[in-house]
Amino acid sequence: MSLSSGLPSTKPAAVRHFLDLWRMEAADLRAILDDAKARKAARAGWPKGRVDADAPARDRVLAMIFEKHSTRTRFSFDAAMRQLGGDVIISTSADMQLGRGEPIEDTAKVLSRMVDAVMIRANTHEDLERLALAATVPVINGLTDRSHPCQILADLLTFEEHRGPVAGRTLAWVGDGNNVCASFIHAAGKFGFKLNIACPTVYHPDLTDLARAAEMQGRVEMTEDPREAVRGADCVITDTWVSMGDTDHDERLRAFEPYQVDTALMDLAAKDGVFLHCLPAHRGEEVVDAVIDGPRSLVWEEAENRIHAQKSVLAWCFGAI
Ligand code: CP
Ligand code: NVA
Repeated sequence: MSLSSGLPSTKPAAVRHFLDLWRMEAADLRAILDDAKARKAARAGWPKGRVDADAPARDRVLAMIFEKHSTRTRFSFDAAMRQLGGDVIISTSADMQLGRGEPIEDTAKVLSRMVDAVMIRANTHEDLERLALAATVPVINGLTDRSHPCQILADLLTFEEHRGPVAGRTLAWVGDGNNVCASFIHAAGKFGFKLNIACPTVYHPDLTDLARAAEMQGRVEMTEDPREAVRGADCVITDTWVSMGDTDHDERLRAFEPYQVDTALMDLAAKDGVFLHCLPAHRGEEVVDAVIDGPRSLVWEEAENRIHAQKSVLAWCFGAI
């Protein structure tokens, strides 16, 4: 009997990382969003800790590593794993040897032997990519300096619950061309919506993402004028002007002053246009109270939908979708 006769003849299935929307198949993203809708509907009225009937994460453990602060990502992934019948281990990088310089590749190899998936909120996108390259279990992007894909799935779930299919609709991003904006650019082509981005030239999206946007031939439009971007839009979205890790606080506040989302700006959107913000919000800076607390704002449902969207991301990573 040859040494290899007992080995499987086919290659093991590729590990399903969830790193960025642009890397994903559009059909998989649509399946994830539809699964999130179905799961949410199936547990309507249930206590938040009850496990979904199919428990797709039963016997699975998710490790979460935080290099930056978080409220929504931390609690929603924890709640998501409980509702899927799994468990979590949470740590800040500062509490790990990672924070003392242990290579992220070594961390990936060790954690791959202890847990079934790893979610990381990383300071640099490169760290996320290095973790995924060395890991043998799925790695999930819980925000980096470059992107925030889980957030956009929750946002699109929220939009579709209120306004129907996002394909063919117009979304307007107002403010910083940051990590959240980047994931909206990635989503535009995958989900078939138009994205108008209004931002000061100096704070434009990353050049790689602008190149991706250019390839989408008119699906993503850039302007410096927030009014132009918002006119007739089905959804207006903004985010903080100073993201975690940004050091030019005062310059940013000055540059973004004309980009505040107030009622006058919202009045230019479609009559039934809605408002989204990933939170945390800085009231009086990127958005005024009258908008974020107003009738068009969906921000609290958007925050809750982090749980529902991420449950389906996890189910996809575990091969259950
Ligand atoms: N929107 C979001 O990711 O929130 P946290 O920073 O609180 O996780
Ligand atoms: N752009 C923000 C998003 C926070 C959820 C940041 O990176 O700080």
